Amino acid sequence: MEPHLTDWLGILLRWLHVIAGIAWIGASFYFNWLENRLQRGAPQAEGIEGYLWAVHGGGFYRLEKFRVAPKKLPAALHWFKWEAYVTWLSGAGLLAVVYYWDAKVYLIDPAVMALSTPVAVAVGAGSLAVSWLAYDALCRLLQRRPLLLAAAVFAFFALLAFVLCQLLSGRAAYLHTGAAMGTVMAANVLRVIIPSQKSLVRSVEHGRAPDPQLGASALVRSRHNNYLTLPVLFVMVSGHYPLTYGHPWNWALLAAVSAAGVLVRHYFNVRHRGEQSRWWFPAAAVAVIIAAAAVTAPWQSGDGDALVTTAAIRPVVEKRCTVCHARAPTFPGFAGAPGGITLESEAQMENLARRIYDVTVKSKTMPPGNLSAMTDEERALLGRWFTGIGAAAHE
Ligand code: HEC
Repeated sequence: MEPHLTDWLGILLRWLHVIAGIAWIGASFYFNWLENRLQRGAPQAEGIEGYLWAVHGGGFYRLEKFRVAPKKLPAALHWFKWEAYVTWLSGAGLLAVVYYWDAKVYLIDPAVMALSTPVAVAVGAGSLAVSWLAYDALCRLLQRRPLLLAAAVFAFFALLAFVLCQLLSGRAAYLHTGAAMGTVMAANVLRVIIPSQKSLVRSVEHGRAPDPQLGASALVRSRHNNYLTLPVLFVMVSGHYPLTYGHPWNWALLAAVSAAGVLVRHYFNVRHRGEQSRWWFPAAAVAVIIAAAAVTAPWQSGDGDALVTTAAIRPVVEKRCTVCHARAPTFPGFAGAPGGITLESEAQMENLARRIYDVTVKSKTMPPGNLSAMTDEERALLGRWFTGIGAAAHE
């Protein structure tokens, strides 16, 4: 495909994905908050579980939640599902355009495992389907043990991240772990939440007493979606930070930050219910600090004895990097410098020294899939160059 076309498809799908995602998660956070904040104590009108007053956008709102369902359905009843479906569909489209179309750049890393494109795509797409099946089975199995279920779901995703990090490029492994969580969330809407709401509505239409269990199981899935949100969003922004997905312990880092995300969500949920929030927030902060410290510690220290000049590394960068990182890349498939990074002059190389060091020595995420066949000696040379520049800068 024409590189300009994939770029345009990519940006338009990403735009749609973010817009639909905001609409979905915005509504989901709002209803979750509503559920937690509902005033249930005061005497309620017949059939009402709780109510709430709010002021927003210059007007007052009063909302009520029915214990199970109203006796008669209103003429206009609003549903929330297309936000979820559009988010998932645009995400799947992005996955195909970015990761599957350009599998050699983004999906596969021969240093991790030299998979062929069809196998790597099958691993990626298969991980989404397997995640839903495994998660749904866990939910049914541990229906009556909510805490054990939460732990099992967490362990499952940590295991998934671990396995994917052994098979795909770090960035693709992260993205697919997030996409698997997103798939579970969207499938919860499609397969559990919406069907149970439909049968609630049918019961009311036919004048039958609705089964309260239906609403309850939808609420559990909706809660899971709420807790999955922050880890998913972390994955979606981590693509810009090779220090996360390019770390040798990338899967453990993702698990630690996800645990922090879940704890932060829990902190807010507990607080919105008006209960004393305890150690959730500090615990989350500790998890993030440990993860950040692990990433910041040097993984490989340059020996820094002989000073390597920029002129000495220039031929290496030109051979291994500038094919892509130029205003007019010669590497097929690129319409412009990837990530807006050009490495054509020594001044540019020096300005970007830290980032060059991060992606070639620290995390080895560049060249992607080692497409331009950079050698370990060349990486070591760049490492000595960077430590030398750093030392010179401090003199
Ligand atoms: C095959 C093409 C290709 C080659 C060769 C290549 N890069 Fe990249 N580079 C990319 C792509 C693609 C991105 C990601 C842009 C994005 O974020 O979408 C990227 C991103 C980067 C980034 C930004 C990373 C970030 O997310 O902050 C840096 C820095 C970088 N490359 C440096 C290098 C260096 C140094 C070399 C040579 C050792 C190199 N690249 C070789 C394609 C290449």
